[in-house]
Amino acid sequence: MPRLNLLFLGIGLLPAGWWVIGLLSGQLGANPVETLTRQSGDWALRFLLLSLACTPLRVWGHWHTPMRLRRQWGLFAYFYAWVHLTIILVLEHELDMLALWRDVLDRPYITFGMLAFALLTPLAITSTKGWQRRLGRGWRRLHRWVYPTAIIAVVHFLLLVKADLREPLIYGALLSLLLLARLPKRT
Ligand code: HEM
Repeated sequence: MPRLNLLFLGIGLLPAGWWVIGLLSGQLGANPVETLTRQSGDWALRFLLLSLACTPLRVWGHWHTPMRLRRQWGLFAYFYAWVHLTIILVLEHELDMLALWRDVLDRPYITFGMLAFALLTPLAITSTKGWQRRLGRGWRRLHRWVYPTAIIAVVHFLLLVKADLREPLIYGALLSLLLLARLPKRT
């Protein structure tokens, strides 16, 4: 693995490492499940936006290095989304799939969260060079699903906050910029 990817593998795993230390030392606050749920959701969204920032940085900033990290950041988004879902399923619902399914049906923010996770799954699976080759042109078409997925993830965040909308709106604004930056350059 190239050195840059190795470095970012270490950096990307820092939040997860911090949670393990926090759990073992009891430093995750009064409600560790809530802390873990929120922080894993935050990191999933951050990495998703980071992976979407690579192309605009190349096109507008002529900065090519992040392109080498795009796949890795996308996979970190999936990893943290998976941790997020696992925490909810194991620690909140105690593996009661029916309770989770009821939540998906009853709470719109969970519906959106689940939809984002479901859409991210085939993207993570097919992110390898082998799948890229096998799917040919279809690969690009499939991976364009990352845009609606990111929008759905931000809607998930917007729907779950009760009063202070500032944080999800900041993510929404960043995502809008990243999507606008993909519009073709006028020459
Ligand atoms: C790509 C998938 C997902 C992303 C990017 C994502 C992102 C987020 C974000 C950013 C938050 C807010 C964290 C904060 O308050 O700072 C959050 C909270 C939450 N998410 Fe997700 N999420 C995803 C999938 C899911 C799924 C599949 C579920 C449930 C099955 C889910 C359930 C929740 C819950 C219960 C909360 C905490 C709500 C509370 O504070 O009471 N999320 N998520």
